[in-house]
Amino acid sequence: MKIAIGCDHGGYTLKLEVVNHLKERGFEVEDMGCDSEQSCDYPIYAKKVTDIVISKKADLGILICGTGIGMSMAANKTEGIRAALCHDTFSAEATKEHNNANVLCMGARVIGPGLALKIVDTFIDTPFSNDERHIRRISMF
Ligand code: RB5
Repeated sequence: MKIAIGCDHGGYTLKLEVVNHLKERGFEVEDMGCDSEQSCDYPIYAKKVTDIVISKKADLGILICGTGIGMSMAANKTEGIRAALCHDTFSAEATKEHNNANVLCMGARVIGPGLALKIVDTFIDTPFSNDERHIRRISMF
């Protein structure tokens, strides 16, 4: 599985931890930036990650900013993207099962790396339910 990841300055340090964790788990990782804690504009990185997910060159995306909110708003502007802002493992599991989310957003100023890595693992490891009602609902937006 290939995972595309992006961040802004607020998410940079947490992104490095997530990238290391994903590589340790054996996933292929496409790091789309940013590359430092210097102030930058999160929509640029949201677009880079969502484009690569839509092109199917990556299976899932992860976006990290300070709150995760800006990234999730920007990511959901790309047609076909279902970006979920998750700061707990229940939501990370449910959004894969019910919404077939293809991008996970997190806020590095909201949660610490321990919880963030558990959320990442839950998101990646939970499959879509494929239930008819969830397919129908997703197809409505
Ligand atoms: C940057 O200061 C901050 O606004 C950004 O990381 C994010 O939280 C936006 O939603």
